[in-house]
Amino acid sequence: MYLTPEEEKTLDGEYGRSLQKAIEILVALGDIYGADKLIPVKSAQIAGVSYKTIGDAGLEWISDLEGKVKIPSILNPAGMDIVRWDEMGIDPVFAKKQQEIIEAYAKLGIQTKCTCTPYYLEGFNVTLDDHIAWSESSAVSYANSVIGARTNREGGPSALSAALVGKTANYGYHLDEMREPVVAVEVDCELSGSDFGALGYVVGKTVGSRVPIFYTKNEPSKNEMKALGAALAASGAVALYHIEGVTPEAVRNKFTRPDEVIPVERTQIDEVYEANKDIQSSEIITVGCPHCSVEELEEIAGLVEGKKLQKEMWVCTAREVAERHPDLVQRIEKSGAKVVCDTCMVVSPATNKYASITVNSGKALAYVPSMCKVAAKYASIEDCIKEAGVVDEN
Ligand code: F3S
Repeated sequence: MYLTPEEEKTLDGEYGRSLQKAIEILVALGDIYGADKLIPVKSAQIAGVSYKTIGDAGLEWISDLEGKVKIPSILNPAGMDIVRWDEMGIDPVFAKKQQEIIEAYAKLGIQTKCTCTPYYLEGFNVTLDDHIAWSESSAVSYANSVIGARTNREGGPSALSAALVGKTANYGYHLDEMREPVVAVEVDCELSGSDFGALGYVVGKTVGSRVPIFYTKNEPSKNEMKALGAALAASGAVALYHIEGVTPEAVRNKFTRPDEVIPVERTQIDEVYEANKDIQSSEIITVGCPHCSVEELEEIAGLVEGKKLQKEMWVCTAREVAERHPDLVQRIEKSGAKVVCDTCMVVSPATNKYASITVNSGKALAYVPSMCKVAAKYASIEDCIKEAGVVDEN
């Protein structure tokens, strides 16, 4: 792999051991995947934040690093709401460790905003063909597919390395040829809302890590595409998908329809809702996987208006989004639901104490049973709120 004289000096350790380690990781990945060079990236999003997932070994590794990131960099969700962790029932020992992890990242100049939706935040709005190094799988899918930016599905250490060096190795989804669809998904019915998360949950299992192009009967909204991509990345390992006539590269590049076709029928979508319907009554309802957009917060606020919920309900979103819309937070919380920031139902240990959960996310449906050992069922946002046990205040 070609390195500039500056990059060679970094690799030789002239700028310190942390930068040397960072560029070693990038060069090793580049060599494995046949990259020709390092390329600049516009921003980084770093996974490996929840103490639940990285533990003491991860905390030690981050604490040992020195230097400052060279590009805008942000964190994945942590294991708790940084401000209201006690209301979530988080153990103070866990909370202390979680704070230490966040402080260790802050020392490196990383913005301590913990979200899987960086594209909603100031300074992280990327555009078509921008190169970035993001690691949370739904953020990667949204950036690649809905925005048309270019990122591999980075691991925590490789995204952090890219943040410190300001570059990544030029391979995978940074290259035109890797972004071509190889399998067609033909959907035979109109879909709306959480149907798209169910579609991703069904298709991800078959597609694996390949690039699909969807032929849909109707055009999904950006929020629906967010849900589709998150589920595709969780039940499979899809980092990029296209939708004919909708996503930016499908519109610009006019791809040839791949020979392999996966047909999807309405019954397969319905089966996602039907599975686990034997969970008569969930103990907790969580929405906001990926973190809610403003439009989703507005929809939830409208649905819970004038109601009192009888069960615990979390509405997960980015702190910056919640702070920009205190009115929406207030309307939602008036019902008894909690607007939970910085974390989510999958990466927080607070979920583990419940026996059953209802979600409106194909990604949460795929991960909660394995990562939290909690039985999960799938429902639309309207049915999630019904499940929360609604009483009219009037
Ligand atoms: Fe985000 Fe957590 Fe879902 S990180 S995509 S809300 S599993």
